[in-house]
Amino acid sequence: MNPDQAILNKHRLHLEEIEAELALSVGSRVAKIEEISRHTLLGGGKRLRPLLFVLSCGLLGSRVQECYRLAGIFEIIHAASLLHDDVLDNAETRRSRPSANRLWGNHAAVLVGDFLYSKAFAVAFETGHRPFLQRLTETTTRMAEGQVLELEHTFDWDIGKEAYLEIVKAKTAVLISAACECGAILSGAGETAESALAQFGFHMGVAFQLMDDLLDYTAEEKVFGKPVVKDLREGKITLPLIYALADLEEADRAALRTRLTPEGAFPSEADFLQVLEMVRTGGCLERVREEASESVERAAGCLAIFPDSPAKRDLLQMNRYILDRSY
Ligand code: FPP
Ligand code: MG
Repeated sequence: MNPDQAILNKHRLHLEEIEAELALSVGSRVAKIEEISRHTLLGGGKRLRPLLFVLSCGLLGSRVQECYRLAGIFEIIHAASLLHDDVLDNAETRRSRPSANRLWGNHAAVLVGDFLYSKAFAVAFETGHRPFLQRLTETTTRMAEGQVLELEHTFDWDIGKEAYLEIVKAKTAVLISAACECGAILSGAGETAESALAQFGFHMGVAFQLMDDLLDYTAEEKVFGKPVVKDLREGKITLPLIYALADLEEADRAALRTRLTPEGAFPSEADFLQVLEMVRTGGCLERVREEASESVERAAGCLAIFPDSPAKRDLLQMNRYILDRSY
């Protein structure tokens, strides 16, 4: 069994409960919203974020049965952000299916993103739990900041690792971190546990995005569920390419820069393949994988304060899975 399937099978019972909660979130007075929400939210996905929330609640002794409704929040926010992201990227495919923007247009996709985002907060408000709500609002604020930072660095051939990591942390790691930390916040576990889980999710989240950016150069489209080498075509200079560019002579770097236009259109497919070849050779991908592996190790270390338990083992297994996932 492949690692993706093994994780999904192991947590099948949690996932069924999470799916049932998500199905309740797509309801609207407007049929079109329901149709697009259903396509977006109920159309697959690993449910990594809600699962992490449920396991974090379990780690701290909360009754997991009571966590499922809130777990959905993390998937709904994620789905809303992907709706917006696909508009920004002009994406055609998401999770091996046509993206919502392709099927219904950009306007509808953005508005349903807003709808889902509001739904997530409506569920969160039911708790009346101020620190939880505060953590969620901080998270979505940071995500929006991350996305704008990424926009600013589109076709920025001078982007360095530091700026790249700043984007990764904001757009991806903070939501995974919040899913873990909120398990501790709602369990009333205290600051030490909250901070440990926040750090665990944060490092895991960085590893997740590093692997996503690596898979963009290595995966097969039918497995990954979205076109590969898409980042480069969109003008996103991610870590594999940052490493490859750093290894070039200045003249070669300058030549590359002049051939690639900010519109994202490569002058020829041959130029594009040349960049792809450059990234795939020269050890760049191995360095990114090593970096992701170090982040996974850092994440695992953050759970050291918790005694051994099935939930802790599950969290550590999920963390290791980040390096093995194929989509
Ligand atoms: C996908 O990354 C996108 C994100 C992780 C974050 C998107 C965030 C926003 C649009 C702003 C916040 C919006 C809300 C509603 C909270 P990617 O582009 O690297 O992955 P991809 O290759 O799958 O598109
Ligand atoms: Mg994207």
